Amino acid sequence: MTTPWSDLRCIACARRYPATEVRYRCDCGDLLEVRHDLNRLRAESPDLRRRFDERRSIQTGPHASGVWRYHELVLPDLPIDSVVTCGEGNTPLYASAALSAAFDTADLALKHEGENPTLSFKDRGMTSGVSWAQHLGVSHVACASTGDTSAAMAAYAAHARGLEAVVFLPHEKVSPEQLAQPIVYGARTLALDTDFDGCMRLVQAVCERHPIYLLNSMNSFRLEGQKTIGLEVCQQRDWRAPDWFVIPVGNAGNVSALGKGMLEAHALGLIDRLPRIAGVQAKAADPLYRGFQGGFRERVRMDAGETLATAIRIGDPVSHDKAARIIQRFHGVVESVEEAELMDAKAAADRAGVAVCPNSGVALAGLRKLRAAGTIPADASVVVILTAHGMKFSQVDVAYHTGALAHCPPTHPNAPEPIAASIEAVCSTLGLG
Ligand code: F0G
Repeated sequence: MTTPWSDLRCIACARRYPATEVRYRCDCGDLLEVRHDLNRLRAESPDLRRRFDERRSIQTGPHASGVWRYHELVLPDLPIDSVVTCGEGNTPLYASAALSAAFDTADLALKHEGENPTLSFKDRGMTSGVSWAQHLGVSHVACASTGDTSAAMAAYAAHARGLEAVVFLPHEKVSPEQLAQPIVYGARTLALDTDFDGCMRLVQAVCERHPIYLLNSMNSFRLEGQKTIGLEVCQQRDWRAPDWFVIPVGNAGNVSALGKGMLEAHALGLIDRLPRIAGVQAKAADPLYRGFQGGFRERVRMDAGETLATAIRIGDPVSHDKAARIIQRFHGVVESVEEAELMDAKAAADRAGVAVCPNSGVALAGLRKLRAAGTIPADASVVVILTAHGMKFSQVDVAYHTGALAHCPPTHPNAPEPIAASIEAVCSTLGLG
């Protein structure tokens, strides 16, 4: 038997478990992470950068994916021809004079993870999570979700061989587009009379008692795929890390994955310096921000309040401890923004032609605040992670532009204009005489 490349290790007590063991926490109760043998990887694959660069020209098969291009760093023990992929990743970096002006940041790029197969960054984590589930031979997978994890899990489970999916959604707290996704992909869709944190507690309890594989981001194999967002950004920038990443935070898996990927890339010499990381939350659900204010001496849990950023409406983030470590390790910051701020920031990027979701609007509003405070200097290179496509939340867009959101009056409203279907009405409305 060949020696495995990876195992599971506790982030607190460093206890190790085989990667093939189904477990989400250490016996000490803390979170686990997948550890790869980076020394062996460095010794056996000294040319990783070139290998990853050569794969960029591949058009078909798993290596064409923006996740599996980095196979050696994602799940090296998984044979490449057994991955479940939908061609995720390879998402664009948007940069323009209009965006730079709108966010007062000359060197700004928006990494649009909404241009993934199910329209959110979750596809990256789900291709690795579902591939591992299939590798382990489980029959059922489940997750709690604010709407995007469930969409991705349902789609990838539908692509896998014989995997049944069950999703736990907070009833009437996800958008119609998000709700449609698990339904059409054939997942059992439970709409529960609770919030996301309630769904999260329940799905964990069910998966503890029954042979159902949990695919929330506390499953470390999800984060392995998710971390490729940062790797891909660095590769798109010719292996230069930006000065800052700005990222919205909910359950805190994505920011944890971003940091892990950057640490590994640095250890392997793929990048020569580490970026800084700013996590941003909506004020109604900002436990990580509150913890950061207190130097993370205490873990803050709260009841998440109403926010238009429904995908990050989370009061008790599962990956809190990982995220806090990453923020500290990267000399990072956590910011919190108001509803009107997030909608204004979103509208500014929308107006520049990039379809931004409210959750990503949170990150953009955070950038504005951090620029205004001078925390992020004007000459910094900044990459903001946009986590989902704006069109997953179209009801918010219409409500905002028609002035239906009392607490977020639109700065540049662009409501549809109902007029008579006549040439006279069209010409007079357009001022054509
Ligand atoms: N942005 C979007 C669009 C999301 O859907 C999520 C999380 C986040 C940001 C935050 O990422 O949780 O890793 O900190 N959505 C999860 C879900 C909770 O169920 O879809 P995180």
